[in-house]
Amino acid sequence: MAAPIRPDATEAARLLRAGKLVAIPTETVYGLGANALDEEAVASIFTAKNRPSFDPLIIHQHSADRILPYAAEVPEDARKLAKAFWPGPLTLVLPKQAVVPDLVSAGLPTVALRVPDHPVARAVLELVDFPVAAPSANPFGYVSPTTAQHVGDQLGEEVDFILDGGPCRVGLESTIVGFADGVTTVLRKGGLPLEDIEGLLGKSVAVRTHSSSSPEAPGMLSQHYSPGNEIILLDSLNDLPRLTGDEAVICNGPVLPGRIDKRVEVFNLSPTGDLAEAAARLFATLRAVGSFERVFAVLVPENGLGRAINDRLRRAAA
Ligand code: TXA
Ligand code: MG
Repeated sequence: MAAPIRPDATEAARLLRAGKLVAIPTETVYGLGANALDEEAVASIFTAKNRPSFDPLIIHQHSADRILPYAAEVPEDARKLAKAFWPGPLTLVLPKQAVVPDLVSAGLPTVALRVPDHPVARAVLELVDFPVAAPSANPFGYVSPTTAQHVGDQLGEEVDFILDGGPCRVGLESTIVGFADGVTTVLRKGGLPLEDIEGLLGKSVAVRTHSSSSPEAPGMLSQHYSPGNEIILLDSLNDLPRLTGDEAVICNGPVLPGRIDKRVEVFNLSPTGDLAEAAARLFATLRAVGSFERVFAVLVPENGLGRAINDRLRRAAA
């Protein structure tokens, strides 16, 4: 039976307490949530996602005060970032406390922590006295969902409830930062721009986003965002080849009338070239172009949220 889709945080909290699987909205993407301290509930996340169990999960709570105690140690940079950017699209990877099940951390000595900035997510998190483990609520290897209906379409039979919080405001997964060996390092580019992190810390930070088969952030496998068709990256609309009409073009920013063949479907992420708007629409667009055999995607400027947008486009094209 397909899971109900409703904006009922009380019901979501009741089901989470009962060890059920609940899709929850966040400002980044929808998560597939379960009680992080209940191994059986966590195991059901992997089954629902069809996710290799070596992939560690992010745990979520309502405030820094309620999530940081699951870290055994909080370096100064982590404390500063949490204070400045939580609630928000930032995940901190820190040494874990023993109470966090190994299944959550996939056997790593660290755990990923986040305080989401979404009123409905915060409402449900406030109602439960455990952290909620939640990967993005898509089957393994698919684009992350940014509406409740995306979750219903792909995992409606797998979850017990879908908490509806409307479309996700940011639309890209959180930026993940780790602190191994005392070096503050971005492990996944995401909804919090690198510039904001470096601006706050007053120094440049390392960026190390893997895509090998046993990466530190395995969600970063290339092809992770592949919608299944051929996606060809372009640096500019000027590089568009002659089109046949059975193609789609993903672009960002003003397009002069007549610039693109009328028979081609154009998906403009943001007609004004606003990177936040482009980010918010990216995953829904990658879903929408799934029915085209060939898709041309024009990369966006490599700054701010553009770094994460280009990262996801490159993975979709891989
Ligand atoms: O915005 C988000 O982060 C969303 C929402 C639901 O919070 N969640 C999300 O989860 O994107 P997921 O599971 O799709 O991606 C989490 C990433 C994975 O690449 C995973 O490998 C990495 O976080 N990760 C989790 N724990 C880690 C750890 N201890 N060390 C390094 N990477 C870790
Ligand atoms: Mg994911």
